[in-house]
Amino acid sequence: MDIFEAFESNVRGYCRMFPAVFKTAKDHLLIDEHDNRYIDFFAGAGALNYGHNPEPLKSKLIEYLSQDGVTHALDMSTSAKRELLKTFNNVILEPRGLNYKIMFPGPTGTNSVEAALKLARKITGRHNVVSFTNGFHGMTLGSLALTGNGGKRAGAGVPLHNVTHMPFCNYLGSEADTIGTLERYIEDSSSGMDLPAAFILESVQAEGGVNVATKQWLEDLFKLARKYDILVIMDDIQVGCGRTGPFFSFEAFGLEPDIICLSKSLSGYGLPMALTLMKPEHDIFEPGEHNGTFRGHNAAFVTATAAIKEYWEDDSLSKKVNRHSKIIRDVLLDIAADFDADVEVRGRGMIQGIHFEDPKIASGISQEAYKRGLIIETSGPSDEVVKLLPPLTICESALQEGLEILKESSRAVLESPTLV
Ligand SMILES: Cc1ncc(COP(=O)(O)O)c(C=O)c1O
Repeated sequence: MDIFEAFESNVRGYCRMFPAVFKTAKDHLLIDEHDNRYIDFFAGAGALNYGHNPEPLKSKLIEYLSQDGVTHALDMSTSAKRELLKTFNNVILEPRGLNYKIMFPGPTGTNSVEAALKLARKITGRHNVVSFTNGFHGMTLGSLALTGNGGKRAGAGVPLHNVTHMPFCNYLGSEADTIGTLERYIEDSSSGMDLPAAFILESVQAEGGVNVATKQWLEDLFKLARKYDILVIMDDIQVGCGRTGPFFSFEAFGLEPDIICLSKSLSGYGLPMALTLMKPEHDIFEPGEHNGTFRGHNAAFVTATAAIKEYWEDDSLSKKVNRHSKIIRDVLLDIAADFDADVEVRGRGMIQGIHFEDPKIASGISQEAYKRGLIIETSGPSDEVVKLLPPLTICESALQEGLEILKESSRAVLESPTLV
């Protein structure tokens, strides 16, 4: 019997979509035990923006380990952490005119969200938080309460409280005034909604189906927050670290959230690491009030520092993302045009997707792509969106090769409805 089937929990998910046993990985490629190669348009669900085992990060990691650099340190000060704090401030924050204190909340995205929630509630003394339809913020109870997806929520086993879910941009169609509705709920003391401590949102909802918030909607949301003294928590865990082009997904709009959640590609190497950034005046946790054993993953600090120095000291990666974004968009529009039915191309930068009315078409395309050597996942409430997340650093020829496989796969599904 298959060892995984025999010993690993039934909860495992992605291995059912991509059943190969992978052995090595380099840049945009995953290689299985039979030496089959797969172009990776999944990139660790956004944790591998710089590809697998990127050389400039790997060499720094090996050097650090070979010198017996500190690996685990809770929140004690280390040379590796000092270098990261300095580099993050000098290369990411200062040039953007941003001033944030940096908290290490624990190793994963959901740790960052939990810390942000706790902090927003402590700052305001309020319990309610507004999150948005189709938002995804993690799987621990606090972040799961923010998450829209019913299947994920069902796993909680307890009621999920202290959150009001409101319509995201365009959730009710492009004509609906979702910000106006939200304001009416806030201003009316009889709406039944308690004044929220914070709004939490993704500027592009990744797991929720590649739903892009417009600039106008984001600006209006921030204005509303300021008017009613509500904090804004930007969850940039999946679409930060350059996924949409600039380092932060919201920076092109000149927005300054009160709290920012980052994780996934922060370490640049797939090593677990997360940050919660807060405006200095919101830095009010008492020492040790929020802690955890794995907040000092120094190997991740080393690769994160190397990633920032390698990819963010100039704008060449951002420019590459913008170029690649156009190439991806053109191919997705071509694919969409082949289908008679309602098909919509969505996304920003190098997170893009094709929405199909029938979820079976999206999963059929993902499965056909896998057979042809391309790893690509689906997202959305019913997994009806084929979602592209190639490494940002992918070379143009590999990007084109992957997109060609995607085209062939969608044609195969179109021409042979029995595949879905
Ligand atoms: C936007 C967003 N927030 C939070 C999370 C949770 O991160 P993690 O799975 O590392 O806990 C994810 C994970 O996909 C995410 O996409």
